[in-house]
Amino acid sequence: MRRMSSLLFLLVLLGAPHGMAGFTTPTSLSTEAHDCTQREGTSLTVVMEAFMMFFDFSFFMDRALNSISARFPCVSRQYASVILDIAETNETITNDKNVFLQSITKSFDEDYAMFYEYLDTLWDCDQSLLYGVKRALEISPAESIIVVYTFGSMTDYNDTELMSDVYTLMEEKKSQVYFMWYSWGCSVLEDVFINISSLSYGESINMDNEDYYKLFHSLELLLSKPLNSSERILTVNTKVTDDKYADAFNVTNPLTHLLISGDETFALNFSDPNGNTYKYAKNPYFSDYYYSWSSYDSSILSSHLVKSPAVGSWILNARGSRTLSVHVLGFTGLDKSGNCSNVDCHPDATCSEFGGYGECTCKEGFAGDGKSCSDIEECAGAYTNKCYYTGFSSCVNTIGSYTCGCDPGFEYKEEFACVDIDECADRSLNECDPVAICTNYYGSYTCTCPNGYYGDGYHCEINECQQGTPCGSNEECIKSIGSYSCIDPCSAHTVLNDPWRSTSNIYNADVDWYDWYHCDYRLSGWFRFKGEYDQQIPEQCVPRASCGSSIPIWMNGSHPTVSDGIVKRTMCHNWYDGCCTHPFSISVKMCPGGFHVYHLTNTLGCYMAYCTESNHTCSGVDCAPDEECKIVDNVPGCYCKKSLYTTNGIQPGNQAGDLIPQVTCGLGNIEVRFSKCLMEKLEYSPSAFHMRDYSCRAITERSDQSYVTFITRPANGSCGGSIANNGNEITYTNTVYLASQSDGVIIRDEYPIDFHCSYPLNMEINLLTAISTFVVSASINVAGKANFTITMGLFEDSRYIAPYTASQVFLNSSAMLYVGVVVTGPSGSSPFVLIMKNCYATPTPDSSSGPRYNILTNQCPNKNDQTISVLENGVSLKGRFSLQVFKFLGGFDQIYLHCQVGLCDTSSKVCATSCPSTRSSSLGNNEVTNMTLGPVKQKVAESFTVAALSSGGGTAVPTAKIFISAIFFLLLLC
Ligand SMILES: *[C@@H]1O[C@H](CO)[C@@H](O)[C@H](O)[C@H]1NC(C)=O
Ligand SMILES: *[C@@H]1O[C@H](CO)[C@@H](O)[C@H](O)[C@H]1NC(C)=O
Ligand SMILES: *[C@@H]1O[C@H](CO)[C@@H](O)[C@H](O)[C@H]1NC(C)=O
Repeated sequence: MRRMSSLLFLLVLLGAPHGMAGFTTPTSLSTEAHDCTQREGTSLTVVMEAFMMFFDFSFFMDRALNSISARFPCVSRQYASVILDIAETNETITNDKNVFLQSITKSFDEDYAMFYEYLDTLWDCDQSLLYGVKRALEISPAESIIVVYTFGSMTDYNDTELMSDVYTLMEEKKSQVYFMWYSWGCSVLEDVFINISSLSYGESINMDNEDYYKLFHSLELLLSKPLNSSERILTVNTKVTDDKYADAFNVTNPLTHLLISGDETFALNFSDPNGNTYKYAKNPYFSDYYYSWSSYDSSILSSHLVKSPAVGSWILNARGSRTLSVHVLGFTGLDKSGNCSNVDCHPDATCSEFGGYGECTCKEGFAGDGKSCSDIEECAGAYTNKCYYTGFSSCVNTIGSYTCGCDPGFEYKEEFACVDIDECADRSLNECDPVAICTNYYGSYTCTCPNGYYGDGYHCEINECQQGTPCGSNEECIKSIGSYSCIDPCSAHTVLNDPWRSTSNIYNADVDWYDWYHCDYRLSGWFRFKGEYDQQIPEQCVPRASCGSSIPIWMNGSHPTVSDGIVKRTMCHNWYDGCCTHPFSISVKMCPGGFHVYHLTNTLGCYMAYCTESNHTCSGVDCAPDEECKIVDNVPGCYCKKSLYTTNGIQPGNQAGDLIPQVTCGLGNIEVRFSKCLMEKLEYSPSAFHMRDYSCRAITERSDQSYVTFITRPANGSCGGSIANNGNEITYTNTVYLASQSDGVIIRDEYPIDFHCSYPLNMEINLLTAISTFVVSASINVAGKANFTITMGLFEDSRYIAPYTASQVFLNSSAMLYVGVVVTGPSGSSPFVLIMKNCYATPTPDSSSGPRYNILTNQCPNKNDQTISVLENGVSLKGRFSLQVFKFLGGFDQIYLHCQVGLCDTSSKVCATSCPSTRSSSLGNNEVTNMTLGPVKQKVAESFTVAALSSGGGTAVPTAKIFISAIFFLLLLC
């Protein structure tokens, strides 16, 4: 509190602490004419910084001067002011207190320009305060009271010549210097203030804590002191460390009064030579409360008059432990004999009553010249009254005095007006339960049941819930008056449906600040978060300014399962100290039905709130490396990472290199892939992509990253593509069309990319690319694992390269039938091999009726037909056999070939068979697919022509290699 920010300072200023009324102009009473000879009294000079004229100082000063003038209407005195910190030091010397008060008062309303001007100079903290003190001493008569009202800066304190002048003047004039300072502005030279004030029998007063009633009442006493009769008796200024201080002084001459200025942070006890004691109690407000945080040592001023002090040795005992400041001043009246008697005076006046003056003086509480006295309306506000200044009370005027009606919780004490009652000091003063903890406050007290007890403090009972574990781990113990119950929070909870809690609710400036920031400072009890779906508190740190609050709260730990029951989990704030600032613990439970309930507590403050996210979490969602999981509309999904492809300013179609697809040329499938995230970045719309055949659209697939993929077969016409055969290789060509705009109905800005796949001519490619009635395909699915395509064809010769493509095949009787079967499907190694289980021929397409000639039975050739030759069966994904052409008896001129084929899993079976074999086939009847080729017609044999038999077969076709894969980077045609 030594320094306050300027904002805080202004708030304090405008807030008018200690009953200050804020920018009030004095309301001086007019000086009445009195029928008495004026005599000279103690003068008053005020030194102040210009800005402080806007303070309430003159408001209090006005009341103090009204009070003293009312009591001593025949006393005149000099009032002077020295205003510092403006172009020319402004000095006023007058006998008229109204002129004086005007000289130390400014009103914000009237002088606001000056207010700002002075405010600027104030913050410079460069006041020549010592010079002000010197000027005050110079212009004041002897034995004046000098009040220095300041923010504390005294830049000229080490001007030794000036300081020496000040000490000389103090010695010469015997004036008392009082520093009244605030600690909010500049750094205060308290030691210098204490030195000067102590030496001059004044005080250094910290106004931050001052009791204004005491202060201005002391000023009244000081100003009522008669001139030229003072004796300086004792000055103490010492640091008290062990709570005790003792001193002694002698009153050597008969005096009319002692004026004791004491420090209320101490209890003071004076004993006179006759054993009488004068006790001044420690101030109950300020000693403990205010001084606990103040680093200043200054006193709280309070002055007392002791009438007719005994001559002899006096003893002072003080209790307290700060810097003790005590001054004892003695004085006598000038004319002790007087020339009046009480009968001459008004009934409310006495002769020679105060200060030794022999004249009628109105009693305390009355105003007038002694011949006529009237009651002072202390409560009216124009005078000082202690009720008003100490607060917590109302003022009630009485004839000759006033009383303070204390607010509830306060009691009246003569010295301090209304003081707080410490209700906790005695059980009879409070209504707390005997076991409760009583805490005293100013004007009130509270009762709190101790740990282990339940109640409102006025009534406390043992809390069974805190005695062992009366409930199961699935239940919460709830205490109520007289009993307790075990509650399952899964059935007793409050549902919160706050969409603003979502982790995706990130602050944006378009939302009004006060509509967006939320605060959970009133949440307490068991809660379930629900939106359209159940929600849960996120288990990861949430960025600040999300979840509809400045400081989001998340859970540092994982959610429990149903069987865990109620568990404790740590909650964290993402705040000034990082992700887990101010961790705290709450109870969490998972309920049957898969939702969680949380025992939430109030947040520490605002703006803090519990976050929620869908309990469909990203945990377990496996995204491609170029993607990340996000919850969108409560559903987790993979989305392209924003940081990827930060290529500057790519326009669709402009950056050729970015659009080169990956082409995989497989025998079964050709795949053309584009990076999905790149397409998104380039603002293409994959839903509008197509190949030459518009119905061949792109699909989204994922492998090492996510792709937009076209799949076609290397067959003529597949997806609108075409096949070219140059005798050495076959080339499949097609075009994909990317579109950047599509609304689902039309597309624009189509961008074509051509690609091709070339294959060397061999059995597989020829089979797969041929358009022929002598090539047939079937799809099969093996054990639900993978889809394969089996293609069977009839080849022209033993090289098994060229399938017949003509619409009809006529063979002479010596020709051979070459049958090849190829399996295509997923790339990579597979445990499967092709098995041709049964192959046979029929004269009609119907495989089940009419005559039938067996070629392979249970994988083995018909041992009666020596022309049958099986090159491969059950060892790879291909199968080949051949036999000589034949003709069915009975007038049939054509044959159809049927094969029951299937895939055999080599990891679990023996698939190959050495023939002849007695065992049954490795494949059951339900594991095979029927395929049919035909018809093959036999040429009519010419007369006299002798048929020649060929040995058949013989070419070495590689059998292990099923696919020729290649990645082609295509040229762009635009
Ligand atoms: C005090 O005097 C010294 C020189 O003796 C000077 O450097 C310093 O600035 C002075 N301090 C102030 C606050 O004027
Ligand atoms: C007080 O003493 C001073 C000189 O010491 C003198 O000028 C002044 O008049 C005296 N005042 C009174 C009220 O006697
Ligand atoms: C008070 O007076 C007595 C007797 O004259 C003397 O012994 C004593 O030291 C004096 N005390 C002080 C504090 O001056």
